[in-house]
Amino acid sequence: MISNNEINDAMTIKLDDRLPEYNKLEKDKRRAPKRELLLNDKEIKLALKNALRYIPDNLHSKLAPEFLDELMTRGRVYGYRYRPNGRIYGKPIDEYKGNCIEGKAIQVMIDNNLDFDIALYPYELVTYGETGQVCQNWMQYRLIKKYLEQLTDEQTLVVASGHPLGLFKSHKKSPRVIMTNGLMIGMFDNPESWSKAAAMGVSNYGQMTAGGWMYIGPQGIVHGTYSTLINAGRIKLGLKNNENLSGKIFVTSGLGGMSGAQAKAVEIAGGVGIIAEVDKSRIITRHNQGWVNKVSDNLDDVFSIAKEYVDKNETVSIAYHGNIVNLLQYAVDNDIYIDLLSDQTSCHAPYDGGYCPQGLSFEKRTEMLRDNKHEFKKMVDKSLIKHFELVKALHDKGTYFFDYGNAFMKSVFDAGAKEIAKNRENTDDGFIFPSYVEDIMGPMLFDYGYGPFRWVCLSGKDSDLDKTDAAAMRIINPDRRSQDRDNWIWIKDAKKNNLVVGTKARILYQDAIGRRDIALEFNEMVRNGEIGPIMIGRDHHDTGGTDSTFRETSNIKDGSNITADMAVHCFAGNAARGMSMVALHNGGGVGISKSINGGFGMVLDGSQRVDDILMSSIPFDVMVGVARRNWARCEHSMETVADYNKEYSDTNAITIPYVADDKLINKLVNEYRNGEINE
Ligand SMILES: NC(=O)c1ccc[n+]([C@@H]2O[C@H](COP(=O)([O-])OP(=O)(O)OC[C@H]3O[C@@H](n4cnc5c(N)ncnc54)[C@H](O)[C@@H]3O)[C@@H](O)[C@H]2O)c1
Repeated sequence: MISNNEINDAMTIKLDDRLPEYNKLEKDKRRAPKRELLLNDKEIKLALKNALRYIPDNLHSKLAPEFLDELMTRGRVYGYRYRPNGRIYGKPIDEYKGNCIEGKAIQVMIDNNLDFDIALYPYELVTYGETGQVCQNWMQYRLIKKYLEQLTDEQTLVVASGHPLGLFKSHKKSPRVIMTNGLMIGMFDNPESWSKAAAMGVSNYGQMTAGGWMYIGPQGIVHGTYSTLINAGRIKLGLKNNENLSGKIFVTSGLGGMSGAQAKAVEIAGGVGIIAEVDKSRIITRHNQGWVNKVSDNLDDVFSIAKEYVDKNETVSIAYHGNIVNLLQYAVDNDIYIDLLSDQTSCHAPYDGGYCPQGLSFEKRTEMLRDNKHEFKKMVDKSLIKHFELVKALHDKGTYFFDYGNAFMKSVFDAGAKEIAKNRENTDDGFIFPSYVEDIMGPMLFDYGYGPFRWVCLSGKDSDLDKTDAAAMRIINPDRRSQDRDNWIWIKDAKKNNLVVGTKARILYQDAIGRRDIALEFNEMVRNGEIGPIMIGRDHHDTGGTDSTFRETSNIKDGSNITADMAVHCFAGNAARGMSMVALHNGGGVGISKSINGGFGMVLDGSQRVDDILMSSIPFDVMVGVARRNWARCEHSMETVADYNKEYSDTNAITIPYVADDKLINKLVNEYRNGEINE
């Protein structure tokens, strides 16, 4: 067999053979709870050998015990020793080494995802969503950075679940990074098999933009949350297009990575928000950022502040330090009317710490997760069922409850409350409450192609962000549709709303052509030297890119909401068209095996090459999703495609479904069932 010396000689890009110093981990940083460890001894040995693959063999005897300790106490090998000391953050692009602009830009994005101000568990490389990691361990982080420093504009870096497989020759119009996260073979595509694979160091849960390296802090989700709330108000509370949520109460939970956007969004929407959060540190983070207004652990106070602001029709967000189940119990017991109700605990991973059961403090939940997982699971199930009963009680009094795509309803079902399923047996027919995409975002936004377009000013300059905000505003026609008007107002007020945490970034919902035109305008501004280079991208939580039965594609009603063809086409099509970075993941947002999702990043360097790529890739990225929705007979998508086919008939032709007459079908099947037609 090839010797370690020969292996060392055969690699030009590798980790150093000197032991890095083990830097102290700062005590005040949030730490991930111990992850489930289902490995037998044979697999534990495999996990150690797997982690040591990154390490020159002269260091193995020193590092093997460290890695074993991490595996047994934390459930994963993170390789803490390999974490660079101090704060990691997205620096201005010029401060990075690299042979091409994309290599440097992607390093900015990765580092931003690991910023202490951004990441949920920075030492465990978790950006958001309890388990969404940038990559699996710090050895991978270091090696990815080395590869990105070497990457040329004729090579592609391939990253499989955080593992940099290597640099491969490609060409100037190829992606510079192609990555996947957590993809499993069908028969092993379940949380248990994945959990073993992750513990063995061969799979990573990338969520969406955590492992897809396009997270822009909680701002990324504020616009979508704002749109959801304001449209819920219009559809369910009868607000007119020019009215806001003033005088209305929105109750929810979670002030974490994405859920942290709720307080800010309800304020922008003009309402009164009450958000339960069990982890004090997350409340402090959001409060210090100015994203949540008032904090209390006393429910009498919480509801009296809420009443005061409802009465004077002013906006406020209140963080309740405590369990959402206690808060809902209080509302039911005191007959308090709630207009809008949701939940954003990390129910996509309820047994891994995502959901804190009633009766346990956040600290006790962490201890119990480590010491008594079996009992912990039982408590989670009990709490979820209670949670569901309280939601039902409020719903019966007129509250509009919607699932916020966190798999809350699926978790309640799995906990044993079968009555949350429409058919009370299985989830095939969906749930008794709507998901926010099914009722609101799907028909109002995704079906038209509106989705979470975003950009990062790689120079790190505030002035670049101001110029791009102004340019985007110029491109939007606020008189076209109410959605355009909302987006126009959003970008007009974006700076005032103080949304930036981490890199100088902006979120702006746009449709296919809006995104294309804004991207082209930015590239022109880079060309003219008005601004530095820009990274554009999107959340995977979008029209295109994600097949997720109970979430992104929950308003797909032709039976195809259990298929994942579209997400794969979106990923492949974006790669073929030359996006700088393309990603395909398993389980983003809802947990392993429940979705396939993908995203992209595209570096605007002012070149004609980039113009050419934008012209074909940006409309494709969105319209492939609209085309699929249209084929599922989503009405607004069919209209959008019909318009698109007319406008771009020289270059595009999308198939639109003919609509069968229900009367014809019903009559035919009824007659057949009644024996009037013989086979
Ligand atoms: N914001 C969105 O638009 C959006 C969209 C789709 C899905 N989601 C889903 O929302 C969930 C939350 O995402 P995140 O990134 O904020 O995750 P996160 O883990 O960072 O935050 C969840 C928060 O909920 C708190 N929590 C857990 N149990 C609680 C309880 N019983 N009472 C009160 N607080 C409790 C946790 O302490 C944590 O801070 C995920 O499942 C995500 O997939 C969000």
